[in-house]
Amino acid sequence: MKAVILGGNGFIGSHLVDELLIDDWDITVYDRNPEHFRPPLKRVNYVFGELGNKSLLQKVISKGDIVFHLASSATPQTSGENPFHDIQADLLPTITLLDICVQKRIRKLLFFSSGGTVYGIPETGIVPETHPTNPISSYGILKLTIEKYIQTYHHLYGLPFTIIRPSNPYGERQNPLGSQGVIAVFLGKIKRELPIILFGNGSITRDFIHVSDLVKAVKLASLKTSQNDVFNIGSGSGTSLTSLVELIKTITLLKTEVNNLPKRAFDIQQIVLDPCLANLELGWHPVIKLDDGITTTWDWIQKSL
Ligand SMILES: NC(=O)c1ccc[n+]([C@@H]2O[C@H](COP(=O)([O-])OP(=O)(O)OC[C@H]3O[C@@H](n4cnc5c(N)ncnc54)[C@H](O)[C@@H]3O)[C@@H](O)[C@H]2O)c1
Repeated sequence: MKAVILGGNGFIGSHLVDELLIDDWDITVYDRNPEHFRPPLKRVNYVFGELGNKSLLQKVISKGDIVFHLASSATPQTSGENPFHDIQADLLPTITLLDICVQKRIRKLLFFSSGGTVYGIPETGIVPETHPTNPISSYGILKLTIEKYIQTYHHLYGLPFTIIRPSNPYGERQNPLGSQGVIAVFLGKIKRELPIILFGNGSITRDFIHVSDLVKAVKLASLKTSQNDVFNIGSGSGTSLTSLVELIKTITLLKTEVNNLPKRAFDIQQIVLDPCLANLELGWHPVIKLDDGITTTWDWIQKSL
């Protein structure tokens, strides 16, 4: 199989590369940056460019059957500050990408949406794909808008797609100095002997999924013959940030100071995804337990930071 991975040098993309290489996929990574944490892999074809570079993107898309779209400069933390930037940098080039995918008659487009933000405030304890989508952040609106365009391109032009709604992925090569991914950020603070910052009182609850489990689900979804699916990819269980900090203290054997700051308006209090559809349709279920996953992430951070 031939894959084009847009944003393949980022955290999740780099693990997707590893997962596809297990099955000898022919991989082209298209990204504006090299990988942060490891040198280029010999078996991967790297093309550097902006998502908005139409002519280069056309050439790159010609190289693949399956296109994975992970390139995003928006994050939940930053997107509210400048929604115009996200529309220009992520939404508009994605529409161009959809046109190219239709022209090139690709086999499938897999888009990385956001299970943590597209639903908004959950009406149920565990959130299935059929839950209403009422995002409360600019990031969630952006992801949902792209989902809607993809579905419309399927309806109008037959574009085959799968939408992946990950919960909260974590693991090796997530930037401990970045703003997304509390596990990496908390471990990074501990490593640098800095206090952990908790927005709110610590009762905020998230659904953590190890990145290797996530990319296994994505590979299965990419190979599935029936198309036009939307999958939640999460663990199905919630962990409060207070419990997470306690678990991290046990694993690192380090004490840490916790500074509480006011809860941010875009933070959803609790979101846990229902992964039953992925289990049923893809035969997928996550295998990495949270404590094991944090232990390997901590080992990596100690070596890397
Ligand atoms: N990490 C998470 O917690 C999480 C959760 C849910 C969904 N997602 C989504 O999954 C995808 C991948 O996330 P990640 O954590 O690997 O992000 P990341 O920031 O680590 O990787 C994104 C990659 O895309 C590249 N990129 C961004 N904008 C680009 C552009 N305009 N042109 C070319 N390259 C560009 C970056 O250089 C980077 O290598 C994103 O779409 C993100 O929104 C991430």
